Amino acid sequence: MNLRRARITSLGCYVPERVVTNVELEKIVNTSDEWIRTRTGIRERRYVAPGTPTSEIAFKASLQCLERRGIGPEEIDLIVVATVTPDMLFPATACLVQHKLKATRAWGFDISAACSGFTYALTVGAEFVRTGAHAKVLVVGADVMTSIIDFQDRTTCVLFGDGAGAVLLEPSDDDTGILDCLHEVDGSGGCFLNMPAGGSARPASAETVEKRLHFIKQDGAHVFKYAVRKMADVSKQIVERNGFTSDQVDLLLAHQANVRIVDAAQQRLGLPDSKVVKNIDRYGNTTAATIPLAMATALDEGRLKKGDLVVLASVGAGFTVGAVLLRWSGVNWQ
Ligand SMILES: CC(C)(COP(=O)(O)OP(=O)(O)OC[C@H]1O[C@@H](n2cnc3c(N)ncnc32)[C@H](O)[C@@H]1OP(=O)(O)O)[C@@H](O)C(=O)NCCC(=O)NCCS
Repeated sequence: MNLRRARITSLGCYVPERVVTNVELEKIVNTSDEWIRTRTGIRERRYVAPGTPTSEIAFKASLQCLERRGIGPEEIDLIVVATVTPDMLFPATACLVQHKLKATRAWGFDISAACSGFTYALTVGAEFVRTGAHAKVLVVGADVMTSIIDFQDRTTCVLFGDGAGAVLLEPSDDDTGILDCLHEVDGSGGCFLNMPAGGSARPASAETVEKRLHFIKQDGAHVFKYAVRKMADVSKQIVERNGFTSDQVDLLLAHQANVRIVDAAQQRLGLPDSKVVKNIDRYGNTTAATIPLAMATALDEGRLKKGDLVVLASVGAGFTVGAVLLRWSGVNWQ
């Protein structure tokens, strides 16, 4: 088979206008700006207007992505949406995005890998390009976390925000593009971070609502320890198994769940601050959207140039783990 490397040729992002500061959350739960900043690195996050579904913000990010590339939606072959906050259990959010975009030729599906959703979706999308099956794949990471946040639980509600990001994958004709992908699952971690009800195990009932089981539940300390270890492990592994050294890495785009988790990966790789993107202070944890939002921050700050060696890394509920190594291809960014 004649394999073609996939590369990212465009990026679009969307964050809602409404900024919610830590001080605002002090009025809702027993917390403090100081606790949130020092334990997580978060200063503020964005919230959608109540009732805004994930497909809407995914659509906005996708539209910007296509506009920046200068192509119409009918050129898209496949739409892969990573999300844990689908509009509904079914149909897949990818179908709703396909309809909103009027991407008439595209098929699509959702990926449920929580905070690793974007790296998983990127890997899946890249394979369709690599095999030659498709030439234009839209990969979207989008979550309306406010739809599953329990505003009576201070240990989780301060951590998350809403956002969306979309990239276009196309075949590469030079040495840029996705070089390698590395993924793991450890299902024994499922009990430490989940939304217990609303699925087949515990269908919605008056009792599940009363017990607040339709919200995120997390053993923060346990997830933290796992994430610190794994994020650093996979980042290092993917660099080394491709014959590179940490010195050759130009940028680490890690999932933004807690700045201390990103710091740990940075330390393991021995990277200076200039080579690590941290924007959790502005957006909190937007789950599947953090990595494309980090790409946008890097581009805004002029820190991502054609040919740069970039590591994407994520850990999420499942547990799911992902790392992607790529040479940045350059996108239209104004
Ligand atoms: C959630 C997290 C920030 C908590 O930080 P931590 O340093 O582990 O804090 P702990 O959970 O040990 O809690 C310490 C104390 O702070 C309290 N606390 C928790 N949330 C608080 C808040 N929002 N405001 C004030 N105090 C809070 C706890 O009740 C606890 O009090 P206690 O010692 O009296 O029992 C951290 O564990 C984390 O980031 N975990 C990973 C999250 C994550 O990555 N999730 C997404 C999947 S990738």
